[in-house]
Amino acid sequence: MTDNTVTITDNRNGAHADFDILDPVVGNSCIDVRQLTSKLGLFTYDPGFQATASCRSDITYIDGDEGILRYRGYPIEQLAEHSNYLETSYLLMYGELPSAEQYQTFKTSIKNHTIVHESLMQFINGFHNDAHPMAMMVGVVGALSAFYHDSLDINDPKHRDQCAHRLLAKLPTIAALCFRHAMGQPPVYPSNELGYIENLLNMMFSFPSAEYHVSPIAARALELIFILHADHEQNASTSTVRLSSSSGANPYACIAAGITSLWGPAHGGANEAVIRMLEEINDPGEIQNYVSRAKDKDDNYRLMGFGHRIYKNHDPRATIIRKAANDLLDELETINQPLFEIAKQLERIALEDDYFVERNLYPNVDFYSGIILKALDIPLNLFTVVFAMARTAGWISQWSEMIVDQEQRIGRPRQIYTGIENRNYVDISNRGM
Ligand code: ACO
Repeated sequence: MTDNTVTITDNRNGAHADFDILDPVVGNSCIDVRQLTSKLGLFTYDPGFQATASCRSDITYIDGDEGILRYRGYPIEQLAEHSNYLETSYLLMYGELPSAEQYQTFKTSIKNHTIVHESLMQFINGFHNDAHPMAMMVGVVGALSAFYHDSLDINDPKHRDQCAHRLLAKLPTIAALCFRHAMGQPPVYPSNELGYIENLLNMMFSFPSAEYHVSPIAARALELIFILHADHEQNASTSTVRLSSSSGANPYACIAAGITSLWGPAHGGANEAVIRMLEEINDPGEIQNYVSRAKDKDDNYRLMGFGHRIYKNHDPRATIIRKAANDLLDELETINQPLFEIAKQLERIALEDDYFVERNLYPNVDFYSGIILKALDIPLNLFTVVFAMARTAGWISQWSEMIVDQEQRIGRPRQIYTGIENRNYVDISNRGM
């Protein structure tokens, strides 16, 4: 027995066995329970995988207690200040910041893949114009696999790279097409003259009939949202991408599965909930009533955009994005609109009121990203689509890592069976009411 083991004893019969402890570079150590069943005949029970590591990963590190988020070892604060979304995507995908030449080649490849097949545009036109954009995204991104049969071999590194570049390049085009379709507006083709984020804004908001200038502050605020949301280690949608690809499914289908998971209100919907809350409050004079409700133990009302499941002291992304939100509101002169006035007052209360201070209930990243997206005139039902576009870099990086991981197996959780043990079939004429 070495020091780096844990002994598990089944107190019912005294059976025991040693299990290795696996140490990460930083973070919690893990008990390697892969031989638990063969050694002790036991499974582990962990709904929601709260205490279970499902993979080894080199990509993202989070320490919720300390408010740390790093991509490939780089603090999110440094990436937010110095990098952009495309460079950050390269870092996530390939493990290192690109050289100038690598970055140029990568950028060119992404630009070369932004256009979607014209038939795919007809596919989008087939949706009713009140279809939810996330429903369209799930369908259209999954449908990409029907257009690229020739490069779907997940065991071929070139094919994998092609798929990754196509996904990163086409998601904004598809999202903008879905948005334009819902608005009844003509599609705008991608422009290779523009940067990744500027191109997205142009595809969403420009018209053939009027020139459109992308505001640098608006582009920077959206770029920050993309960088801050690019990856968040093994969250629900990323785990969904990994689980679906563990069966060898094609990457377009797997990313569509990730989008499906992100669509759930407990995952990607928080910033939308923030704006709905601000709209419901409606009048700055009503704020105290809502704050009192949130503090009342007998009322299960909660202020949306406050607190975080993982970041218990502060959310590093919220600290970064707060300034961008304020800069944007100043530039757009929206500050006098009641909704943003309510947001400002709520923020102030949360940072000063004992109830919020004692419980570390600061405004989280969703609070500020909701305000930014609203100020950019992005419709509420498109907020999660923005999140999906940003998270695509993380999903494809985690997918690529998983495909070459020799330890990975087809995902197959166990269960505690709680149904009827065994019984005999009864003919329908002999069954009671
Ligand atoms: N408004 C008012 N009180 C709150 C709020 C809130 N938004 N969030 C937590 N509290 C209170 C709780 O009532 C509890 O009070 P108590 O100690 O007197 O019982 C205390 O703060 C701790 O709350 P928990 O529920 O234990 O914290 P938990 O980690 O379970 O919840 C969560 C985190 C779900 C994010 C919660 O803060 C919340 O519901 N926030 C609003 C929704 C939101 O903004 N979600 C986006 C976060 S994204 C994410 O976490 C993946």
